[in-house]
Amino acid sequence: MRKKVSIVGAGNVGATAAHWIAAKELADVVLVDVVEGVPQGKALDLLEAMPIAKCDVHVAGANDYAATANSDIVVITAGIPRKPGMSRDDLLQTNFKIMSDVVQKVVAQSPESILIIVSNPLDAMAQAAYRQAGFNRERVIGMAGVLDSARFRTFIAAELNVSVENVTAFVLGGHGDTMVPLARYSTVAGIPITELIAPARLEELVQRTRDGGAEIVKYLKTGSAYYAPSAAAVEMVEGILKDKKKILPCAAFLQGEYGIDGFYIGVPCKLGAAGLEQIIEIKLTPEEDAALKKSAAAVKELCAVIGV
Ligand code: NAI
Ligand code: 2OP
Repeated sequence: MRKKVSIVGAGNVGATAAHWIAAKELADVVLVDVVEGVPQGKALDLLEAMPIAKCDVHVAGANDYAATANSDIVVITAGIPRKPGMSRDDLLQTNFKIMSDVVQKVVAQSPESILIIVSNPLDAMAQAAYRQAGFNRERVIGMAGVLDSARFRTFIAAELNVSVENVTAFVLGGHGDTMVPLARYSTVAGIPITELIAPARLEELVQRTRDGGAEIVKYLKTGSAYYAPSAAAVEMVEGILKDKKKILPCAAFLQGEYGIDGFYIGVPCKLGAAGLEQIIEIKLTPEEDAALKKSAAAVKELCAVIGV
């Protein structure tokens, strides 16, 4: 039997994630949204592309959560995206209300599922979903680090004129201005980028990574990025469905790791069939550690506002 992935929020990120999942033939997909007709229409359109894509998966759309019953994974992208001039944090109250409502309905239909949270502000929304779902931390994971790292990888590959396949990079911390791109742990074919790119230039690439979301919002004007974000969420879906034991930077609920307790923050995670199977603790310099703690403090502040 094929696996089942439901995606809540059939907007830009949700619908594009459905596209990646179907095109990779990973699972049957159910798209859910509050807007009547949109998930049904997008799902049918995508389903009709399957003969051309040569993919045997089913894609359905619904407004009712009954259609999501017994999903293996539920990706939550429901919420409002930011517009020019807005920070991710400006979405807090609106998306918190949406997240609370959505998680309750998702859990009622799929009590054994693994939740991948995408809505912003990401770390606080993951924390809200974790509290609302009552699942263990292995089954509620936030997506941000894969996206932020992919942006960093893109800029490094372009700078050195090398294949993106050669570039690995790690961005830890919260998904916001305080994110922590770890140049020391970023490599090109195994060579640390600190050996290949001058410090001043590297700092520019790091800053562009921090501003990566805003750079796209500035161009789009009416919303935020979705191709790379949806591809990032689907890399996590694939890691879990295929039990790949893949190490990816994800937002996880820390219980003392990195000296942080009781909050979601981006750290290296091993993803497999059980969801979050391990948090990898890497050695940080005092500066990197301070940057991660500063990022965690920013997440803590947001969580306090919504009481999660
Ligand atoms: P969008 O506006 O295109 O789609 C959001 C969808 O959610 C809409 O179709 C809307 O009708 C739906 N929705 C709203 N309330 C709902 C509810 N109660 N139940 C079900 N559906 C509901 O926005 P987009 O671009 O898809 O972004 C979605 C969210 O993901 C935003 O909060 C955005 O900031 C966030 N995001 C996070 C990223 C990350 O790295 N974690 C990256 C990109 C986006
Ligand atoms: C991004 O980084 C909006 O969080 C989203 O593109």
